[in-house]
Amino acid sequence: MKASVTEDCVACELCVETCPEVFQMGEEFAEVMEDEIPPEHMDAVEEAAEICPTEAIIIEE
Ligand code: F3S
Repeated sequence: MKASVTEDCVACELCVETCPEVFQMGEEFAEVMEDEIPPEHMDAVEEAAEICPTEAIIIEE
């Protein structure tokens, strides 16, 4: 599973709070630190994608 953040991100930081192991804040947008999401963080990444207010987190299986 892979994840990415689009330019729709408004830097609300909810994803970083939900899964700091995978997301970090860049200068403008959140960034995904892992190329391949580790299995133990998949649930938290999916949750972050669901709660992101602008649906800026894209998940690819
Ligand atoms: Fe941006 Fe959504 Fe995260 S707005 S900071 S990608 S929760």
